[in-house]
Amino acid sequence: MTAVSLSTSTAAALRADAVVVAVAKGPKGLVLAPGAEAVDEAFEGRLAEVLTTVGATGAEGEAVKVPAPASLKAPLVLAVGLGEAAEDGYAAEALRAAAGVAARTLHGSKKAAFALPATDAASVEAVTLGALLGAYTFTACRSDNGKGDAKTPLAEIAITGSKRGDKAAKAAVERGTVVAEEMNRTRDLVNMPPNDLFPKSFAEIATTAGKELGVKVEVIDEKALIKGGFGGILGVGGGSERSPRLVKVAYTHPKAKASLAFIGKGITYDSGGISLKPAGHNETMKCDMAGAGAVFASVLAAAKLGLQVNVTGWLALAENMPSGSATRPGDVLRMYGGKTVEVLNTDAEGRLVLADAIVRAGEEKPDYIVDVATLTGAMMMALGSRTFGVMANDDAFRGTVTELAEASGEPAWAMPLPAHLRKGMDSTVADIANMGERMGGGLVAGLFLKEFVADGITWAHLDIAGPAFNEGAPFGYTPKGGTATAVRTLVALAEHAADGKL
Ligand code: BES
Ligand code: MN
Ligand code: ZN
Repeated sequence: MTAVSLSTSTAAALRADAVVVAVAKGPKGLVLAPGAEAVDEAFEGRLAEVLTTVGATGAEGEAVKVPAPASLKAPLVLAVGLGEAAEDGYAAEALRAAAGVAARTLHGSKKAAFALPATDAASVEAVTLGALLGAYTFTACRSDNGKGDAKTPLAEIAITGSKRGDKAAKAAVERGTVVAEEMNRTRDLVNMPPNDLFPKSFAEIATTAGKELGVKVEVIDEKALIKGGFGGILGVGGGSERSPRLVKVAYTHPKAKASLAFIGKGITYDSGGISLKPAGHNETMKCDMAGAGAVFASVLAAAKLGLQVNVTGWLALAENMPSGSATRPGDVLRMYGGKTVEVLNTDAEGRLVLADAIVRAGEEKPDYIVDVATLTGAMMMALGSRTFGVMANDDAFRGTVTELAEASGEPAWAMPLPAHLRKGMDSTVADIANMGERMGGGLVAGLFLKEFVADGITWAHLDIAGPAFNEGAPFGYTPKGGTATAVRTLVALAEHAADGKL
């Protein structure tokens, strides 16, 4: 992966393929953001003018290249836009996005000097994270592994203008790097094609990574699922040649302030099952394990950061396929813990695997359960492709999760769980059906999950169907494909708990 370092040199003195400066929209046109001083000097104070001449405005997302004068050690200057000019410092998200655009624009170069407004620790962390996320590429499936073409990520990024021995800035680079590494791990898992990533291979990847980081990984395979009575996971995975798994990933700290259980929907491919999805709706369904990817990576991040909290991740892994052994619409499943569910639509499979995992996680009596799932198209209809919905059995916790998400750069919106929608899931034969009213389908799914949360446990549900996978053009630090949404929210929650604030 790309490496970020702090440099005490000025951008003018650093040997690199490009120097990156930030620009913004001032009241009278483009202005340079702090950090660009040395570069501006090399342009004899005319950098803003030069950039304006070639059409730069400072708008968010903008990237404009100009050749550097001879007095700079780099041949190229790249100006990235921050949006509206700020008097008292730039917002972390504007810095992340600008750094991300810069790193994306410089795919194919080796080294860049970032002369951005990053002096305090928070902005250093934002630039580190944005740059490492922007530099990300997924080349595992290219025959040349992406070598030699424009897809090679930047190898080195130096944040210039740092003070010597600035411990807070150093820690900020470290935290930003950990979060970026784990988000990029999630992106890799989401981008992996479903013929390579299936329950068994995902469980193996988890086992290997767990060993490296001292995180305990336990794989509950098909035999153990049958023995334990995990009817939801088995019912969903039954149609596939690739058997399902439930993977437990546990990070513990001897001085833990709280215990958290994170549960991820891990459908490695969602064809819909017997209620088969039509063409046009299944091309991106490798992303249906994005919740499990985010949960897995956030437990690893908690371990790398050494947080004073116990975090258990539960990855509910299955492939939803139609076949002679698949669950039929009309079947009744006996879930882990004994509740029965009439499956009316095999495409509403996420809630079935999650229900088993929620009951199992609840047995260990964590203080909080948070599940993360690409659960419903309805949530996408409600909130669009960049915001996830937050539901909970506790209003204060829902508020905390939503605020932590927003603060960490993940757009989130609190959604209700209206009790009247429960009736639509009444089944004539079982305790509950896996489908209810079509209207408010995201909330119906949330109400289904709520039924499986043990009394006394505070629970939240993140429906990430919209933001998990970017089908549109890249923007800011977000590439096409897997985004790693929810990782930062889960890490922030673990940090909040470790600080004794939950
Ligand atoms: N994995 C899908 C939800 C989804 C849709 C995620 C689009 C990402 C993008 C989920 O399993 C599903 O198929 N949900 C159904 C539920 C319905 C049958 C009650 C849906 O939303 O249509
Ligand atoms: Mn489905
Ligand atoms: Zn699904």
